Amino acid sequence: MNKTALYPGSFDPITLGHIDVIGRAAGIFDRVVVGVLVNPKKSPLLELDERIATIREAVDEDLPGVAERIDVTSFDGLTVDFARKLEANFIVRGLRAISDFETEMQMAHTNRKMHPDIDTVFFMTALEHAYLSSSLVKEIASFGGDVSKMIPAAAARRLRR
Ligand code: PNS
Repeated sequence: MNKTALYPGSFDPITLGHIDVIGRAAGIFDRVVVGVLVNPKKSPLLELDERIATIREAVDEDLPGVAERIDVTSFDGLTVDFARKLEANFIVRGLRAISDFETEMQMAHTNRKMHPDIDTVFFMTALEHAYLSSSLVKEIASFGGDVSKMIPAAAARRLRR
């Protein structure tokens, strides 16, 4: 049976930590769908279509061996409903530190309560990326700071534009 995992998030912008998680998830699952949440409440650094194009480019450039098994798409509504639509039985999330654990545990339990057939699988983000967060990258970039060591080259090009 083909195993599909959904990796949901805002990816505003995608960081090297996300790329690490996508690559490792592709080592376990046959297909990984990166689902970019449509969130009208957040004011984004990158528009939805730019985020999707950036993730696609970053995956093709940085994860060439597995890129063809990775899809990038947007979704709105509940993550578990989208996972069901994709026939994905797994949700992938990265854990950087204990501080992530509380919200992630709450989301995983809540999602499982809604759809017990969908399990959340966590990857410990690689130590060298464990400090990274999209919101800090967003703040630094908005003040013109250099974020090129924190995000994939495709995202750095996009931000320069
Ligand atoms: O990258 P983020 O912003 O930390 O991702 C959070 C995300 C998108 C995974 C979470 O907010 C989510 O799943 N939103 C979709 C709505 C939903 O399913 N809410 C119930 C979660 S228990």
